[in-house]
Amino acid sequence: PVPEPTYRIGFSQCSMEGPWRQAMLAGMQRELSFHPEAELVMLDAHDNSDLQNEQIRRLVKQGVDLLIVSPYEAAPVTPAVEEAYASGIPVILLDRRITSQHYTAFVGGNNVEVGQVAARYAARLLRRRGSIIEILGAPGSSATLDRHRGFVETLRDYPDLRVVGEVTGDWRDKFIKPALKKLLLAHPDVSLIYSHNDGMGRGAYEVCQELGRTRQIRIIGVDGLAGDVEGIDLVRRGRLSASLLYSPGGEDAIRTALRILHQRPYKRENELGTMVIDSTNAVTMQQQTDKVISQQQEIEQQQSLLQRLRATYSSQQVALYVSLAS
Ligand code: FRU
Repeated sequence: PVPEPTYRIGFSQCSMEGPWRQAMLAGMQRELSFHPEAELVMLDAHDNSDLQNEQIRRLVKQGVDLLIVSPYEAAPVTPAVEEAYASGIPVILLDRRITSQHYTAFVGGNNVEVGQVAARYAARLLRRRGSIIEILGAPGSSATLDRHRGFVETLRDYPDLRVVGEVTGDWRDKFIKPALKKLLLAHPDVSLIYSHNDGMGRGAYEVCQELGRTRQIRIIGVDGLAGDVEGIDLVRRGRLSASLLYSPGGEDAIRTALRILHQRPYKRENELGTMVIDSTNAVTMQQQTDKVISQQQEIEQQQSLLQRLRATYSSQQVALYVSLAS
């Protein structure tokens, strides 16, 4: 018989919009499928920090054994995380950070590094000279602040590279278009767009297309997801010049959670690396991710087969007990 889960992991997810968040959850579920001793309770805050605070408090009240939080905005979500941590529940921050050190572990990419790598790549592409537009993620997210900081700090090494305009996005491609169009019309010399994620980069490409400027303007995005019109594919099709890999880290978060729950040693800072995906490696990356995806599907099939077998086995056992008893 399948053991009842002993651990409940609460997951406060800032948003479930878009394939990157879905990949994060799929990774968590895949890892959990090997660990019947734990179950996940997720609440989706729909990109709303007030709601996220409330949901974190609700999970704490429900008595979860560990909390994973991917905060929408850093400062506004800090209070509920600090309270949870102070009440003795281990807290793992996933992907984005809060403004305090009151957490048990962090799992995610280094967004300052993402910004730095993007700036150096931009400098190489533009031969150290040109005008840039930056499209930012949601204003208070730690990923936005860090991707911006790493980028502008590194650009200081290149005096002839200038950011001539910024578009404040919210990680989605719909809302940036009017503002970007206006900026591009005001700056006919722009030769590169640095977008804080690939989704907004895809939107930027569409705007460039509309203005007939796809040849003059290069676009760099972040995430490097597999899938149709996602990062790797967009690079392969030449719509993005590059995408910086940024792993969702779902599996890693669950692994750290289980180490903490089982009282085994764990690392407090678990940094997931980045790399540039561009025309030199996009095809290889695609082949590799295709392979990983088919292996993951196989794992999922095997897991559901195993579950069916377990169910049959326990119903047969029941039948056996019944016949023995009679
Ligand atoms: C998804 C997302 C990703 C991005 C990450 C940053 O919600 O916007 O595209 O890399 O969050 O935290």
